[in-house]
Amino acid sequence: MNAMWSAIVVVLVIANILGCLWLIRATARRRKNEPGDKDTTGHTWDGDLAELNNPMPAWWLFLFVLTIVFGFCYLTVYPGLGNYRGLFDWSENSQRQADLNTEEHKFEQKTKAFAAMDIPALAANADARGIGRSIFLTRCTGCHGSDAHGAPGYPNLTDNDWLYGGSGDQIVASITHGRRGNMPAWGATLNDADLHAVVAYVGAHAKASDAKTAQGEKVFQTYCAACHGADAKGNPLLGAPNLTDDIWLYGGTPAVIEATVRNGRGGQMPAHETVLSPEKIRLVAAYVYSLSHP
Ligand code: HEC
Ligand code: HEC
Repeated sequence: MNAMWSAIVVVLVIANILGCLWLIRATARRRKNEPGDKDTTGHTWDGDLAELNNPMPAWWLFLFVLTIVFGFCYLTVYPGLGNYRGLFDWSENSQRQADLNTEEHKFEQKTKAFAAMDIPALAANADARGIGRSIFLTRCTGCHGSDAHGAPGYPNLTDNDWLYGGSGDQIVASITHGRRGNMPAWGATLNDADLHAVVAYVGAHAKASDAKTAQGEKVFQTYCAACHGADAKGNPLLGAPNLTDDIWLYGGTPAVIEATVRNGRGGQMPAHETVLSPEKIRLVAAYVYSLSHP
């Protein structure tokens, strides 16, 4: 706030409070020159029914005055009058920072013992799992679901079937640096017959049982084996999924497989190193690890 606005705020606030004081005083007095011998407001109904003017009891008025005094004390101690910062220089931000520091400190004390444990050991520790779970619930459920079962395009983290590997280190790496799957689009490269054949082959869990899937196997070995492996079991270094099991990242119906092969896919797991400390990443990784290692 610049000085002029600050001055306007100060004047308005003080004028308001003094205005209240004036109002209390004005209504507390018995009014003079009212008609009749009783102290009435002057309103009458049915000829003789008059409204008496009884000022509020003194103790009540005293409470109002007390709140005004409190208001002035408050404005002296805490910021409230324009740019004036209060006697103790208190601010919401400094209070919040102090709270955060104590929380951070408590967290460090609590997790000191965890530093020496590896991910499987952390996953077996109920305290560590609990902290990991709360990090998961705030950071990961938007994509992987609150039960970590995922959704099309977002892998299920509970099934021990991994795109990038399920060891403690691999999970930590997935969370820390993020991952980007790159499945190229084949719509322009493959003719329709080859494309349908390879879709049929993949849909049959990479088993050639008839002429079409046998043709598909040939296409697969030429174009797909480099990433998915000659046995179609996938490659964790590339995040290429295993195509022989019944677990699908995008879906295993012929239509979805065809869309995947024709247009390609590029799932992205965001890097978390900028938003979570390494210790927190280890704890959430341990929670994820525990889901498939009960
Ligand atoms: C913006 C959405 C999003 C958020 C948020 C997100 N993820 Fe992911 N995650 C993904 C996607 C998409 C993939 C798959 C990437 C791919 O297709 O290559 C993935 C992959 C992973 C993998 C690798 C799975 C495998 O099979 O190898 C792990 C582990 C993982 N996420 C854990 C987490 C954790 C823990 C959090 C929270 C700290 C998190 N993710 C937050 C979208 C997200
Ligand atoms: C450059 C490496 C690469 C090549 C070559 C490749 N893929 Fe992929 N494929 C991937 C990756 C990586 C993914 C995972 C994409 C993601 O995470 O979003 C994937 C995903 C898939 C999926 C989705 C699986 C699921 O669980 O939903 C299918 C189906 C598939 N590929 C089939 C094929 C076929 C058929 C070919 C050959 C015509 C092929 N891929 C060639 C890397 C490759």
